[in-house]
Parts: sequence; structure tokens; C-alpha cells
Amino acid sequence: MRNFNEFTITNAVMERLKDARDARMHQISAALVRHLHAFVREVEPTFAEWEAGIDFLTRTGHFCNDKRQEFILLSDTLGVSMLVDAINHRSAEAATETTVLGPFFVQHAPECALGADISGGMPGEPLLITGSVRGSDGQPLAGAVVDIWHSDSDGYYDVQQLDEIGDLAMRGRFRTDENGGVRCWSIRPAAYPIPHDGPVGRMLEAQGRHPWRPAHVHFMIAAPGHEKLVTHIFASGDRYLDSDVVFGVKDSLIGAFAEKPAGQAADGRVIRRPYCHLHHDFRLRPDPASAANPAEFASA
Ligand code: BEZ
Ligand code: FE
Repeated sequence: MRNFNEFTITNAVMERLKDARDARMHQISAALVRHLHAFVREVEPTFAEWEAGIDFLTRTGHFCNDKRQEFILLSDTLGVSMLVDAINHRSAEAATETTVLGPFFVQHAPECALGADISGGMPGEPLLITGSVRGSDGQPLAGAVVDIWHSDSDGYYDVQQLDEIGDLAMRGRFRTDENGGVRCWSIRPAAYPIPHDGPVGRMLEAQGRHPWRPAHVHFMIAAPGHEKLVTHIFASGDRYLDSDVVFGVKDSLIGAFAEKPAGQAADGRVIRRPYCHLHHDFRLRPDPASAANPAEFASA
């Protein structure tokens, strides 16, 4: 076959896919070609625009290294990450809603005792974080692994300033007590712009968009027999709740960072200055397959 034109080229490419490795590969490749060709037909790019598009993707790739994943930022800012998340969490189970993981999760965060101060001495308003972890049936989950991480009061994560602060901070890994409870102290996080010094930042500017996320605390919670929960709790009243650059906000994930006077806090600690308290009760979806991999739940 030859002499393809704008009307015959799509079917010609489809025909070439018939020996794809398996049915899923065929489905994905065919959908990619169909949608890409439809995009080009709609946009009718000039050669200069097409080259600019290739150049944008090339620069996005060159910006990636072991500390920076510009393609994930691209996926996040185009709403693709949240779309993939929504498609993979369709069940109506009574479980905590999910949101993006983000680039600042660290695999082996320090293991901490319940009630520990994870601020690492960073300046800011003290924050008490308390929560409970339950199954979708409401039963408390003891021994669940809870990773907590968040930005500082200027909106920076520890991994963005390791040279200056020297160690991980504002993150920790906890195990829930016999009532499914988890608690720690830290500092109140601030809203922050996602890393926007690269191609995704230039794209946001060109699209007339700001790069900000509302203040939030990240949680990743794992328990045998349950789906791993990746979520955040966002600060109520934050100015960016309705314009989160990565489309991650859901009403059920907005929580009060309640202002409290100095005195005895909910965890029994006496604190000499005003602080804020964030509490959230999490519910995990059942997933019998996750019980098959207990390694993750072994003590460190
Ligand atoms: C975050 O919340 O850490 C995050 C999520 C998506 C992109 C950038 C940062
Ligand atoms: Fe974050």
C-alpha cells in the first residue's frame, strides 16, 4: 500500500498494527493513533508548530533526572494523573477518596513513634496531626503503615532544601495503635507552586495558568487486605482550593487546621504556644490480593 493522503493514512497505520504483541497492545496502539490523528486533523499544525511540539517534549525529557520527573508534572497539570486515578477508583465503597501522589514522596521515610515531632526543628506554627484508620466496614485497622509528609511554612519540602537543612524533615512513617489511631506533631504547611522552572512552567505561563497548590498534608496508608490509600488533606479556606494546578482537590479531603490556644493538646502533650490541630478519619477499601504481600508490613 502506498500513496496515502490525509483521508487514507489513519486506516493504513491501523492496518500495520494487526500483528501487535497482544490484544491490549493492539487496543492501546490503535487508540493512540486514532486520537493523535484526530488531534492533528483538528489543530492543522504548521510545520513550525509541529517542531515546537516536538521540541517541548524533548525539553521535557531532558529536564528529567532521578530527582525531577517533568513528565509526571506534565501529566498532573494536564489533569491526566487525576483522570487515571478516577478511572482506577470507581467503586462506590465507603472509602476515603484518593488524589495525586506527587513527586515528594520518599520510599524509606524515618520510622517514628506515635506522637513524635517530625518537624525536624523547622520554624512554623505547631501542628498536631491525629487520625484513625479503618476498613470500609468501620473496623479499626491496627498496625497499618501510615506515611505522612508535607511542605514547610514557606511551601518547600525537605527534599527541595536538603543541602541547607541536611536531613529529611516533615515526614515520617507510623504504625497505627490497637484502635487504628495515628498522631504526630509537625508545623503547619503552606500553599506552594509546583516546580515551575522547566518546560511545564513555561507551558503553564503560555496557558495563562498559575502553578499553585493549596496547603495540604500527604498520607499514604497501607494495611494487609486493603488497597493502599494515597491521598492528602487540604487546609480549609485556602485560596487555591478551587484552582489547584493539578486538579487534586475533592470536598471530602478538605479539613480544618483548627486553631487552638496554648495548653494541653488532644494527645495529652502540654504546649506553651497556640497551635493548630488537623484530624481525619481514613477508611481503606478491601483488596484481598494485598494480603498476599505481607513484606511491606514487616517491622523495619
Ligand atoms: C505534591 O502535592 O506534592 C505535588 C503533586 C503534584 C505535582 C507537584 C507536587
Ligand atoms: Fe504536596
